[in-house]
Order: sequence, then C-alpha cells, then structure tokens
Amino acid sequence: MSALKVKDISFRYDMEDVLRTINLNIGTGQLVSILGPNGSGKTTLLKNMCNILEPHEGEIHVLDQSIGRYSYKELAKKVAVVHQSAEHDFEFSVEEVVLMGRYPYLKHFQNESANDYKIADEAMRKTSTEHLRHKSIKAISGGERQRVMIARALTQETDILMLDEPISHLDIKYQIEILKLCKSLNQEKQLTIVTTLHDINLASRFSDYIVLMKDGAIIKYGKPEDVITIENIMNVYELDVELIMSYSYPMIIPG
Ligand SMILES: Nc1ncnc2c1ncn2[C@@H]1O[C@H](COP(=O)(O)OP(=O)(O)OP(=O)(O)O)[C@@H](O)[C@H]1O
Ligand SMILES: [Mg+2]
Repeated sequence: MSALKVKDISFRYDMEDVLRTINLNIGTGQLVSILGPNGSGKTTLLKNMCNILEPHEGEIHVLDQSIGRYSYKELAKKVAVVHQSAEHDFEFSVEEVVLMGRYPYLKHFQNESANDYKIADEAMRKTSTEHLRHKSIKAISGGERQRVMIARALTQETDILMLDEPISHLDIKYQIEILKLCKSLNQEKQLTIVTTLHDINLASRFSDYIVLMKDGAIIKYGKPEDVITIENIMNVYELDVELIMSYSYPMIIPG
C-alpha cells in the first residue's frame, strides 16, 4: 500500500513555482528523509503533503485516498506533523500540549480519558520529556520544545508521521535519541516517517530512502547509497566533498 502518493504537483506562493512537477511515492512503513539546501522547497512539499497548503496542479493521495476527501479530524488520525518552528501564544503546560494530540479522537467538549493520559505519558517517556510536564511550554528550551512537539505527534497515534527538521535544535545525544526513536517506531509499529533533515550523514544512516531536492524539484529519490554520491552533493549543494563508506552507509566529509 502507498502511504503518500504525490502526482505531478506544482505549488507557488507568489508568481514563481516553488514546487515544480513533483512526483513521489512513499510506501507504508518506510522512513524517508528529504534533503536539500535552504529554500529548495522541503517545508513547502511537507505542507502540501499534509493539506496545510494546496497544490496548484496535481494530486496527493494519503493511504490511497485523495487528501481532499479526508475531513480535518480524519486526516489528523492518519497524519501527524511536527513543524519546523512552532510559536506558542498561550501558557499551556507541556502535559496539556502533549494531550492536544488526542483532539482528533475526542468529541466536542469531551474530556480526556485515563487512556488518553496513558498514551500521552508513554509519548513523554519515549521523548524524555516527562520531567517537563508541569512547566509552561513557553518556559522551556528550544530543544526541549522540539521533543515535546514530537511527543504530541506520537500521542496522535497516526499511520504517518511528518517531521520538519526535528533535530535542528537538539544536542548530539538527543539528535541520535530522536532518530533512533523514529527508527524503532518505524520498525516496530510500521509507522511511515517522512522527515526533512539537514544532516546528510545522519540521513544516510537512518533512512530507507532519501529525497534530494533543489530549486523546487526532486533531483534524486532512492536508497542512501544511490543518492549520497559526490556528484549529487556537488550538483545540489555546490560543495566539494569526499565520500567514505561507514559500514554500508555513505558519509560525506567536506573537502
Ligand atoms: N509563506 C511564504 N511566502 C512566500 N514565499 C515563501 C513562503 N514560504 C517559503 N517561501 C519561499 O519558497 C521557497 C521554498 O521555501 P521552503 O520553506 O519550502 O524551503 P526549505 O527547503 O524548507 O528551506 P529550509 O531548509 O530553509 O527550511 C523559498 O524560496 C522561500 O523563500
Ligand atoms: Mg524548511
């Protein structure tokens, strides 16, 4: 089954196309990273794939159904998204924010059940955010907030998890911890994960497939060893690199 199918989509904010005829087919249970320079269209593509933005041309299917046919809540049961930067205007506690992940499952004015709390607790445990539960979301660090937003997405219990630079504010220990968590959820629960990343070497190590973008187009989509090549990195980042194999993962070293 296909988790996400993107067919010939184009998107523009103003006059110029930011996404140019993008085609992508992501199977269920895959862990896919989207790489590309700043401004290449990664966030825009993710936002199209979760219906925050609507493509001007083309079609998107989520779990073999057109994305437009899902109600807001039904889509939220299928796809959870962690955005690149989240602003918080209100003084919610971390626990309240994580519990918001249960909203697609609650009826109007219905309170969270013991089971909802249990799911939120489990997500906080997995993301090492339990100790923050009573703190205000506005009074924690950027990296802590990033982990809290991942906890909220896990609480949504979806088939697909989309992450926009989930490790950009994390120290190396939590970068690895979060990517290992993604990998284990992916392998144990068949969770489909689509994440943008800037770290090419971590993407190589943790992804089944890599999408390499440049100027709103996909330059290459395939297994890390087919995408992370000296030629592709030179083409996309205009950077001279050396390439070494670490176990079976290609790793690049800037020259
Ligand atoms: N709200 C917006 N209005 C107009 N142009 C936008 C908007 N958001 C992004 N763009 C433009 O669209 C292009 C793609 O932006 P996008 O945010 O998708 O890039 P990205 O690959 O996610 O970059 P980054 O690595 O910096 O997160 C850029 O040229 C950007 O300036
Ligand atoms: Mg982005």
